[in-house]
Amino acid sequence: MSTRVRKAVLPVAGLGTRMLPVARATPKNLLNVFDRPILSYVIEEARAAGIEHFVFITSRGQGPVEDYFDGNPEIEEALAAKGKDDLLAQVRHDLLPPGSMSFVRQMAPLGLGHAVWCARDIVGDEPFAVILPDMLMMAQKPALAQAVAAYEQVGGNIVVVEPVPESETHKYGIVALDGKGGRLNRMTAMVEKPAPGTAPSNLIISGRYILQPDIFALLEKQGKGSGGEIQLTDSMVELMKTQDFHALEYDGTTFDCGDKIGLLRANVAFALQRPEFAEAARKAIGELL
Ligand code: G1P
Repeated sequence: MSTRVRKAVLPVAGLGTRMLPVARATPKNLLNVFDRPILSYVIEEARAAGIEHFVFITSRGQGPVEDYFDGNPEIEEALAAKGKDDLLAQVRHDLLPPGSMSFVRQMAPLGLGHAVWCARDIVGDEPFAVILPDMLMMAQKPALAQAVAAYEQVGGNIVVVEPVPESETHKYGIVALDGKGGRLNRMTAMVEKPAPGTAPSNLIISGRYILQPDIFALLEKQGKGSGGEIQLTDSMVELMKTQDFHALEYDGTTFDCGDKIGLLRANVAFALQRPEFAEAARKAIGELL
């Protein structure tokens, strides 16, 4: 069994109801953050963490996700003919080595836990990452690479977390820690979307995990939880009875791109971060304000 984290599971099924009407015809994870789809940033983050195989959990209507990562000879030939090498390099940036992507259908929207379970055969018996693409992370050292470094230090299971205002805790999975010393702490509890006022802390599960394959057997018999869905958090609570879980408060900024204002914030932030566009972006935003 490999102990290195080589595979990542990316659940991209889901109706994207918070992003309607645009998500009617465009998968929500292909919505743009400036000039690239959300997924492009996430794949770059995962590659920087050493991920070699990407398992997408898809659903009806997500075909364009697969197409985005395919070669496009027509565009590539046109750019090459015109000598637009820079744009050509950008277009090819997201292409992964042949055989390094798998696509699995989740046939019904039964929840995140069920989506991850759909990857069991492809992941096999090795630790793996889970990446929730709509949580886009801007960080000097990519968020998943921070999680992998933590994993190499303490092993077991790692959940990336971050603080939010108390008023937001009911929207997320929340973790409780065994004391607090630095950014990496042992976890004592987890709860998915606690009722307002009942959260054990203000640290949310941010959407990057490193899990041991033993989670799959637990997911297989996991009953419905919060929202009537099979929750990954509930099976992690089970796994925590026999294995270590550490929470890593990562160093960076998260943009919840499953939310309209979150996506807008990401667009502004990532445009301002691009040296060749920053000045024009600042001017355009300034004029609007
Ligand atoms: C999922 C997880 C939750 C996590 C959140 C981050 O919830 O179940 O623990 O905090 O993602 O976005 P969802 O947003 O799918 O309801």
